[in-house]
Amino acid sequence: MVKNYTISFEEFQNADELNTSEKNLFYQSKEAAKQAYAPYSKFRVGCAIELENGQIILGNNQENAAYPSGICAERVAFFHASANYRGIKILKAAIYAESELFTVDYAVSPCGACRQAMSEYEQNQQSPIILIMGGEKGPITKTQAISDLLPLLFSKSSLNL
Ligand code: THU
Repeated sequence: MVKNYTISFEEFQNADELNTSEKNLFYQSKEAAKQAYAPYSKFRVGCAIELENGQIILGNNQENAAYPSGICAERVAFFHASANYRGIKILKAAIYAESELFTVDYAVSPCGACRQAMSEYEQNQQSPIILIMGGEKGPITKTQAISDLLPLLFSKSSLNL
């Protein structure tokens, strides 16, 4: 038997097509990217998380001379939210990327490890996290849930938990 997995996502021409609060969240992710520590890749990523209490959490990528010791913007932001605001739901996250070497003209989308990490919190809170993704130029994409980006995931239910 063949089973199909389909996802829907929205695509916007630019940030002006987002509603005011999502546009604001996206611009905060852009501001966060400016503070990234990315001397090796020169690829700066920012992540802005909106909590249900209205608070915004920011994160950006943190690199290291020992390359694998670095961490992506999304995990910096989500881990900060979990460390400091446990139990407060995450409504949305915006991700933005820019580069010193080229123009990021596509909507950056999270790496596999970040999808896995973010989906842990989405499952715990039992409500979807909207993801808004963009670059310096070009389209902005929006998914209605992290789980849309990670089909057939391994999760706590895989451990019978
Ligand atoms: N990076 C992120 O922070 N988020 C992503 O979604 C993709 C990649 C970072 C990791 C590394 O510091 C740099 O971008 C280049 O891969």
